[in-house]
Amino acid sequence: MTKEFYSCTQTIYPDEFLLKMTNIKPVRKAVFPVAGLGTRFLPATKSVPKEMLTIVDKPVIQYAVEEARAAGIEHFVFVTGRNKAVIEDHFDIQVELELTLRERDKHDALDLLASSLPKAGQTSFTRQQSPLGLGHAVWCARDIVGDEPFALLLPDMVMQDKKGCLSSMVELYNNTGGNIIATEEVAWEETHKYGVVETGKEVDGGFEITGMVEKPKPGTAPSNLFINGRYILQPEIFDILSGHEKGAGGEIQITDAMLKLANLQEFYGFRFTGRTFDCGSREGFITANVAFAMSHEELAKDLRTELKNILDEVQPE
Ligand code: G1P
Repeated sequence: MTKEFYSCTQTIYPDEFLLKMTNIKPVRKAVFPVAGLGTRFLPATKSVPKEMLTIVDKPVIQYAVEEARAAGIEHFVFVTGRNKAVIEDHFDIQVELELTLRERDKHDALDLLASSLPKAGQTSFTRQQSPLGLGHAVWCARDIVGDEPFALLLPDMVMQDKKGCLSSMVELYNNTGGNIIATEEVAWEETHKYGVVETGKEVDGGFEITGMVEKPKPGTAPSNLFINGRYILQPEIFDILSGHEKGAGGEIQITDAMLKLANLQEFYGFRFTGRTFDCGSREGFITANVAFAMSHEELAKDLRTELKNILDEVQPE
């Protein structure tokens, strides 16, 4: 692959797109693309969205929403598709359930429900009508996000970290402004499965991104730092996405649009050092369940014994 393919080399957009770095606007909104079909989890996902599958006692989507809220996000934008209405219900009051819990004095359960409920008016739902790619899903949120920076969280990627990946990114953003992409190291032979960045100068808390490529052919990745599903982006990305250009896999890719934006605005990488579970795969989803269960005090002890018993019984191949 030639370097021109993934590096920021040319300026193609007019001056008015240039970001005024002196004016760092706060990140108040987060976009969650949740339109995917979840075919890897069939038949479970025939009538239940993959984002509603549970890791211990919470649906996958709730982990990303809680991470966003902890980072100071005030408005949660879901880009949904057909058969996803239950996600909207999950982030609403369930009147009958709450009445029943109240009648039965189940105050802990009521508090738990209240703690995960966004405030009135803090959620928006829009639909991606055709599965044209991640870039297209993000573009569907353009009117709701408007002219301000926003966070993008891919809910399949579930993070386990004391601080929260997005909180650390917001900290970096408050110093640098611009656009931030979270990255993580991956084995070189796995790089073709992801978006990968090219690294430039180190800055306090991160590094400059000088290029990026979506799903590089084996042996051609510019680094082994993959894009792990958390972004802070400036609204000019929507102008670029409105070109609907197709990239890797014949889909409209957010990585391609970001590469174009990187010719005009600053892009920084954040190195995430917590654990990430790719819950779009069965292995990642099951591992996440074990890891989060082991972090629950009341589950950990018994589960450790049970897991040990199972592992002792299973003959290694
Ligand atoms: C998407 C992004 C890719 C990123 C990945 C993380 O790919 O396009 O850059 O590395 O998520 O999971 P997808 O998993 O949709 O193929």
